[in-house]
Amino acid sequence: MEYSDKVMDHFMHPRNVGEIENADATGMVGNPKCGDIMKVYLKIENDIIVDAKFKTFGCGSAIATSSMATELIKGKSIDEALALTNKAVAEALDGLPPIKMHCSLLAEQAVKSALKEYFEKTGRMNDENRHLFDMLDDDAHDAH
Ligand code: FES
Repeated sequence: MEYSDKVMDHFMHPRNVGEIENADATGMVGNPKCGDIMKVYLKIENDIIVDAKFKTFGCGSAIATSSMATELIKGKSIDEALALTNKAVAEALDGLPPIKMHCSLLAEQAVKSALKEYFEKTGRMNDENRHLFDMLDDDAHDAH
């Protein structure tokens, strides 16, 4: 199996590892295929993600994608963060081996799970945007 230099770099030197005290939103998901778990913490000001941290108990690809996903959403609006797909994260890492693509779902779902909490907390969840979180019911089990 071949890993890109970027995957190796983010696996060996993951960015944004840790917790945010008094985070505005947190999301935790587990990958039912392997049992790996990711928790993400977001600091949100004026609907901009000003900080993101994560803790991932998982494989190297899960750690690399967690690292890249948190890098990609920092400084972005919550809408932009919601649009982040696991494919975009994998592409930012110059790709993942096909059998490791499911690992990148963990990062997308953890971010969405945190944003779902934020939407609910701030009273902006409604019938129009609820579908944006549908994928949380698909491949991962919400580990709350
Ligand atoms: Fe579990 Fe990669 S093998 S997330």
